[in-house]
Formats: sequence, C-alpha cells, structure tokens
Amino acid sequence: MLDHGSAPTAADRDPSRPAPAGFGARLVRRKPVERLVAEGGQGEGGSLRRSLGMWQLTMISIGATLGTGIFVVLGEAVPKAGPAVTISFIIAGLTALFSALSYAELAGTIPVSGSSYSYAYATLGELVAWVCGWCLILEYGVSVAAVAVGWGEYLNELLNGTLGFTIPDALAAPPGDGGIFNLPALLVVLLSMAFLLGGARESARANAIMVAVKIAALVLFCAVAFAGIRAGNYTPFMPLGMAGVSAAGATLFFSYIGFDAASTAGEEAKDPKRDLPRAIMLSLIIVTALYVLVAAVAVGARPWKKFEGSEAALAGIMNDVTGQSFWGVLLAAGAVIAIASVVLTVLYGQTRILFAMSRDGLVPKVFSKVNPRSGNPRANTVIVSLFCGVLAAAIPLGQLADATSIGTLFAFALVNIAVIVLRRTRPEMDRTFRVPLSPLLPLIGFGFCVYNMFSLDSVTWAVFGAWMAAGLVFYFGYGMRRSRLATAEK
Ligand code: ALA
Repeated sequence: MLDHGSAPTAADRDPSRPAPAGFGARLVRRKPVERLVAEGGQGEGGSLRRSLGMWQLTMISIGATLGTGIFVVLGEAVPKAGPAVTISFIIAGLTALFSALSYAELAGTIPVSGSSYSYAYATLGELVAWVCGWCLILEYGVSVAAVAVGWGEYLNELLNGTLGFTIPDALAAPPGDGGIFNLPALLVVLLSMAFLLGGARESARANAIMVAVKIAALVLFCAVAFAGIRAGNYTPFMPLGMAGVSAAGATLFFSYIGFDAASTAGEEAKDPKRDLPRAIMLSLIIVTALYVLVAAVAVGARPWKKFEGSEAALAGIMNDVTGQSFWGVLLAAGAVIAIASVVLTVLYGQTRILFAMSRDGLVPKVFSKVNPRSGNPRANTVIVSLFCGVLAAAIPLGQLADATSIGTLFAFALVNIAVIVLRRTRPEMDRTFRVPLSPLLPLIGFGFCVYNMFSLDSVTWAVFGAWMAAGLVFYFGYGMRRSRLATAEK
C-alpha cells in the first residue's frame, strides 16, 4: 500500500505493470508491433470488418492517387519543363518509388490501419508517431479539401459544356476567393461521406467503378490525341534545362500522393500481410505508366508554350485535335468522376488514421467508436467529413494546400527511417516484402524526401512550422497524458 504523503517507491508498485516513465522516456516509448497487430480491427464497442481483397486495395491506392495531378497540375508543369515534363513525371515517380518500397515492407510487417503513424509508433516512439500522424492530417484531411475545390472547377466545366450554365462564383468559392461558400466542394465531400457510411466494401466497390472510368478517360485521351502528335512539338525537348525539369518534378510530386492509401486499410483487408505490399507497388506502377503516357501524348499534340494559362489542358487538346467540343465534355465528365474518387478514398484514409490514433488514446475516443451493426466508425466518418467539407467550402486554402506536400514528404521520410530501425530492432520478424538493398534504398528514399522538402518555398515552411507547433501543443496538452501506453504505466 502507498503511504499517503510519501513518494511511491519501486517496491510500492504492482510488479506486473511497467515502470512509470520519466518525461523523456515517455516521448520515446514505443508500441510493440505484436500489440499493434493484436489490437487490429478493434474499436470502441465493435470491430471493423475484413472485406477488402488485393484488387480492391489496389483500386483504393489508385483511387486516391489519380486525379487533380494529371487533370489539372500537368497544365501548370509543362510551362516549367517543356516536353521534358515526361522526365519530370519519372523523377517525381522515383521519389515516390523508394518510399513506396518502404511502405510495402512495413505494411506487410505491421498490417494495421494507422499507416506511417503506426509504423513510427512501433519504431521511433510516441512523439515522432504523433508528429507523423499530425502530418498525415495534412496529407489526407487538408488535401481532401483542396481536391474537393478542384472537383468543383471541373463540375462547372462539365455543366457549361452540357447544360450551358455554371454555378455562380458566390456559391462556388469561399470568402476571400470572391465568393460566399463553395457549395460543390461541400457536396462532393458529403456524397463521399454517404458512401463511407454505407460501409468500406460498398465504398470500395463504388471506388473501383470510378477508377475504371478515370483510367478509361485517360486511355481515351491518348487514343484520340495520338492523331494530333507532331514530331516538331518534342523539340527542343528541354527548353528550360534541367532546373526546369526538376522544378516541374517537385510540382508533380502532388500527383503521386495517395499511393500509400491502401496502408490505411490494413484492418479491413482480408489478407493484409500478403495483399498490402502488392497493392501499393502495383498501384504505383500503373499510375506512373499512365502519367508518362498521357504527358508524352499531351506535349506531342500541343506545343509546350501553349500550355501557359490553359485550364483543363487535356480537354482542350482533345477539342483541338478533333475539332469537336464533345470530346472535351466527355473528358470533363471523366475528370469529375476521377476527382470524386480521390475525395472518397482520401477521406476514407483520414478516418482510419484517426481511428488508430484514437485507439492509442492520442485523440478523443469518439474516433475509434465502431457501429456494431455497420462495422464502421460512423461518428468518426461524420466528424471528419464535416470538418473537411467546411474547410473546403468556407476557407480559402491557398498556402495550406501547398503544405500538403511538405507534410506528406515528412511522413514518407519517417517511413524510410522506420524500415531501417525495424530491421535492426526486430530482424527476426516475418516480412512478406523486403526492400532490396536495405539500408541503401530507404536511405536514398529519405534523401529524396528531404531534398524535395527543401525545394519548397519559405512560406510553405512557415505554414508547416505553425501546423507543427499547434500539433505539439495538442500532444503535450492532451495526447501525452491520455496515451494508452501512459495509462498502462500508471
Ligand atoms: N494525387 C492526388 C491527386 O492528384 C492527390 O489528386
């Protein structure tokens, strides 16, 4: 028994409980991999359902990746790199590839829903895990809002092409960007919420159909625009030199964000150890091939200088090549579906990451409540969707959207380090996929991420710094004390 008034001694403690940790030790406490895996699927009041196979997981990653990057950002990247934008796509893809290898190894070893947050918790300790989870809110939560805004723009393009009217600015932009409220952005988030509330399997089905449509739209673009290719458009190939090519590569990194989305579905996958690594690698290969092909056809069919200031470049190219506006409208319809599936899958990822963080006690319990009937986290889905919907509809995102890339790169950098750490601390673990030449490739992956982070501008860094500061305040004020590892130590 404790003697009131005196400090507890080692002998006073229940010997079956771990020793209370000092401040420093609390920050680096790690969650054992076995415990992470054993808790997989368990939420408050119920468990998630395992319903996703390899193909659906691949579609989740492609769904989250293929969207605004190719339909919108390509048009901004061509003026920087010229026809060599194809090389920029390869460079951005390489940055993603090294990190994808690391994701594949960890997703196969620690198949849970928290993605890099959980990998960091097992290897680098609680504080780094928290920081990583906080960055993932930038990668997922904030990017949903940014992507939803892009969706609204394509919706207007489609409405204009089919019905001859557009949603007025007042209802299609937030205050500060010339409007009152961005209704379409809110609408696409709420639609995605409705799918997610229907269940992971139903959402995955809807997503698979949308992915098929967006791949078909891009293949159709290549088939139609191929006829417009002129050899002369490829020369000079690199008009602005290598500097232009790498600047465009940094911009295009955004188009690869999302390949890791399958790693947020670990607790709903039927055979996560086998399927997650395959889904991550397969989606990256398919997406890279499509990007390079579409970019090569686009710059072959339109002189690179004409991309400057052109919105909806792909639709414009189809119209030019065929002389009919019908094709552009068809492509706009493809883009509307494509971008909606990014919103759906990225929103899904955000709910599952918060689910894992909540189960660990670092964010409130409501995020890990599972509805026993539907087997999905309902309250979490509603809160996250309303947050992202209002963010997209009412706040001019501006620089915050750019911060998505820096947050993602930071999380990717940590995943590369986590692979090296886990190989050293737990060499005996069963790994269904191993990064070749480790630690060399994870180190190269880490280097690429840091290099790209430093090529972003100082305003983006300032926004990132402010975001991180807010995260640390939340951690020290809430998570550190409520963490389930902390409760176990008391
Ligand atoms: N990679 C995603 C997109 O391009 C975020 O929309």
